[in-house]
Amino acid sequence: MKSLFLCLAALLFILSNEACQPNRKEQSYMTTSVFGKLPDNREVLQYTLTNRTGVSMQVINYGAIITSLRVPDRTGKIEDVVLGYDSLQGYVDGTTYFGAIVGRYGNRIGKGKFQLDGKQYQVTINDGENHLHGGKVGFNKVLWQAKVVSSSAEPALELQYISKDGEEGYPGNVTLKVTYTLTDKNELRISYEGTTDQPTILNPTQHSYFNLSGSFANTILDHVMTIEADRFTPVDKGLIPTGQLAEVANTPLDFRMPTAIGTRINDPFEQLTFGKGYDHNWVLREGGGQVRKAVELYEPKSGRLMTVYTDQPGMQFYTGNFLDGTAHGKNGVAYQRRTGLCLEAQAFPDTPNKPQFPSVTLKPGQVYRQTTIYQFSTK
Ligand code: BGC
Repeated sequence: MKSLFLCLAALLFILSNEACQPNRKEQSYMTTSVFGKLPDNREVLQYTLTNRTGVSMQVINYGAIITSLRVPDRTGKIEDVVLGYDSLQGYVDGTTYFGAIVGRYGNRIGKGKFQLDGKQYQVTINDGENHLHGGKVGFNKVLWQAKVVSSSAEPALELQYISKDGEEGYPGNVTLKVTYTLTDKNELRISYEGTTDQPTILNPTQHSYFNLSGSFANTILDHVMTIEADRFTPVDKGLIPTGQLAEVANTPLDFRMPTAIGTRINDPFEQLTFGKGYDHNWVLREGGGQVRKAVELYEPKSGRLMTVYTDQPGMQFYTGNFLDGTAHGKNGVAYQRRTGLCLEAQAFPDTPNKPQFPSVTLKPGQVYRQTTIYQFSTK
C-alpha cells in the first residue's frame, strides 16, 4: 500500500513538473537578466524574447539596443545576425550606433540648423559641421523604461523615453514609445509612437547592423539586395542631400533587380566616393502611408532571407563603411569595414531644411507613428 502511494506521488510529481516545463520550442517566452551597470550605477537589464519557432532576440533598456537576433539558416542552424558588443561598456563607449534606436533625428541635419514656425533652432554639431543621429547624447545613449507587454501572445517589449525640452537643442518634451515584437512568423516588428508638448521634429529609426552569413568574419559584399525604389536623394561631400531626387537607373544605386552589394560598390561614381560606399537614402515607392515591402536581402550561402517592410518614405542603406577594425565586438571579433549593413527606415535626411521632402514636424495633439518589420525566412 505504502509503495503504491509512493508510486502515485512520484507519478503526480512527474506530471506536474512536465506541466511547468512545457516544450519551450512550442511556447514563446521572455526572460530578464542584469546586463551591466552604467557609470552612475544605474542598472541595465537585458530582455531575451523567444518565439514559438525558437527564433530569439535580446534587447537592453540602454539605447533600446538590440544586442542579438538569432535566426535559422536553410538547414535550421540558428545564428546571430546583428553586430554588437559582449558588454555594456562597449555600447557606452561605442560610436557606431550598433542595434540602437537613434533620434530624435535619424541621420543628418545640415549644420544642425532648422526653422520651425519662424523660430531658428541649433542642435548639437557632432559630425563634421553637421548634426547626426540626435547629437552627442542621442536616444542611443540613454536609459529607457522597459515594460513587458503582457497582453501580447507573442513576446513583446515596450520601451519608453522622455526627451526633455532643449535636449541636444531640440524644442519640446517628447515621449517616444518603441515596441519590439517577435512574431511567430519570424518577424521583428517595431512600432513607434511619439508625442510632444511643443512643435518639434521627430524622425527615429532602428540602427541594427545585419550580416546574414552567420559569421562576422565575413563581409556583407556577397549579400544580394533588392530595394523597391526608383530614386534616391543625392548628397554632397558632407552627406547632406542636395534636395534633388535622382533616378537610380544607370547608376550603381540601382537595386530594382536583385544585385550583390559588392558588384558595384567600388565603381568610380561620385556618390559612392562621397559615401565611401553606400550611405544613401532611397526614395521608396509611394505606399500611401501603409506598410509595404521595401527591401529584400539574401545571403546565398546560408540561405537566409530578410525582407523589410515599412510605412516610411525613405530607407537609408549604409554598408558599414566607417567600421575599421577598431570596434571589438561579440567574442572579441574586430569588426572590419563592411562586416555589417544597416537598413534604416525613416524620412529623408535633412528634411527640416528641404520643404519638398516629406515632413518630420510633430505638433502637440498629433501622434508620430512608424511600423517597420524585419522578416526572416530562408530559400
Ligand atoms: C549614417 C552613416 C553614419 C552611420 C554611423 C548611418 O546611419 O548614414 O553616415 O556613419 O550611421 O554609424
